[in-house]
Amino acid sequence: MITLALSKGRIFEETLPLLHAAGIEVLEDPEKSRKLILTTNQPDVRVLVVRATDVPTYVQYGGADLGITGKDTLLEHGSEGLYLPLDLQIAKCRISVAVRADFDYASAVKQGSRLRVATKYVAISREFFASKGVHVDLIKLYGSMELAPLVGLSDAIVDLVSTGNTLKANHLVEVEHIMDISSRLVVNQAALKLKQAPIRRIIDAFAAAIGH
Ligand code: PRP
Repeated sequence: MITLALSKGRIFEETLPLLHAAGIEVLEDPEKSRKLILTTNQPDVRVLVVRATDVPTYVQYGGADLGITGKDTLLEHGSEGLYLPLDLQIAKCRISVAVRADFDYASAVKQGSRLRVATKYVAISREFFASKGVHVDLIKLYGSMELAPLVGLSDAIVDLVSTGNTLKANHLVEVEHIMDISSRLVVNQAALKLKQAPIRRIIDAFAAAIGH
């Protein structure tokens, strides 16, 4: 049995064509079903529906043989024990710093004052601001980061930006681009040894589908 961990939403949707290229069709729609283990047309391949931030954990501990997860999630979680054979170039976006349109970010940074930053990406933010020599107080949130500057919880946020629509709708502006993000294939190293042929077949099919 080969088990692949995926999260619902963009990653799931953008993974379907890659699975198709590997001859794998998922037989249930996670948006319609409450089932967490989805069957495929291949009796020996199944898909687990897990939270995006849990994908590395499932693969690391062997709950899944493979998974697909954003670079953002991997940087926050760490990639110890994981084999990362491919950048799949899907679910592309960026991590940015954003502030209220009326907040003078450049001056705040220049004056060396402590910046209050709300984010789900504490590790990425800590490293980014440390590399700039900016002192920050990090406030950990789990979602809807855009609210924080609007209600005075923070001066800035660090969050994913794709179209920029969420920032615009909340009157926030992007002031720093931290890094580009895309999703990676992650593989359990023990599974790669024990189930080498079927896992290699999937990696090779994905690689061919993205033109590698
Ligand atoms: C992400 C991110 C932003 C939004 C950006 O949230 O946290 O809120 O997408 O996209 P945009 O630039 O196209 O508007 P997502 O919908 O993935 O949910 P999350 O808050 O659970 O991460």
